[in-house]
Amino acid sequence: MTAVDRLPAQGYELRPVSLEDAPALAAAYARNRGHLAPWDPPRLPEFFTEDGQRDRLAVELEAMAHGRQAAWAVHYGGQVVGRVALNNIVHGPFRSASLGYWVDAAHTGRGVATWAGAHACAEALRLGLHRVEAGTLVHNTASQQVLRRLEFTRFGTAERYLFIAGAWRDHHLYQRILHDDPL
Ligand SMILES: CC(C)(COP(=O)(O)OP(=O)(O)OC[C@H]1O[C@@H](n2cnc3c(N)ncnc32)[C@H](O)[C@@H]1OP(=O)(O)O)[C@@H](O)C(=O)NCCC(=O)NCCS
Repeated sequence: MTAVDRLPAQGYELRPVSLEDAPALAAAYARNRGHLAPWDPPRLPEFFTEDGQRDRLAVELEAMAHGRQAAWAVHYGGQVVGRVALNNIVHGPFRSASLGYWVDAAHTGRGVATWAGAHACAEALRLGLHRVEAGTLVHNTASQQVLRRLEFTRFGTAERYLFIAGAWRDHHLYQRILHDDPL
């Protein structure tokens, strides 16, 4: 069985992010503050507000309009319960992007991250990218399992790679090669 076959329970929907998501995203980040804090960079107070999320979405939509990013919100029962994104999309001979995702604490363990990540990888292929990469904290076994499910392989460990939960922390680096077609 492949990752794409492991669809989450009925009722989940993935939609490209829009400015209209600001209230639901602010609510989701507020609900999941403790769940996400160990894995996230420091967040300013406005991050948890509707205005703060609207500002972030405006920047993100600009990047999306220029093909530098693709991001989707996971919707369930009128709430946003997750997000997945292809960040830092680069073309030329690299043709690469970085995958990021999170799932609401009340919705983990149902295959949502695997399903959303599979969607993002399919979109990366559609965009003509050659690879997708992702980094996880060395002890983020849940995220590493998601990446294994998505057929990513670990290619290294970067010391003091990202500022997460108050310190520069080592990360395991993963990639998935999407195809071997020439440029
Ligand atoms: C990591 C995270 C996205 C996983 O989301 P999820 O929707 O629960 O993932 P899935 O249900 O698709 O699970 C995929 C695999 O991971 C496993 N998994 C999920 N949570 C786990 C945990 N806490 N510990 C170990 N394995 C776990 C699942 O069992 C599944 O493996 P299986 O198919 O062998 O059973 C979610 O826990 C989360 O948002 N964590 C906080 C933010 C974060 O870590 N983001 C990623 C940063 S790199």
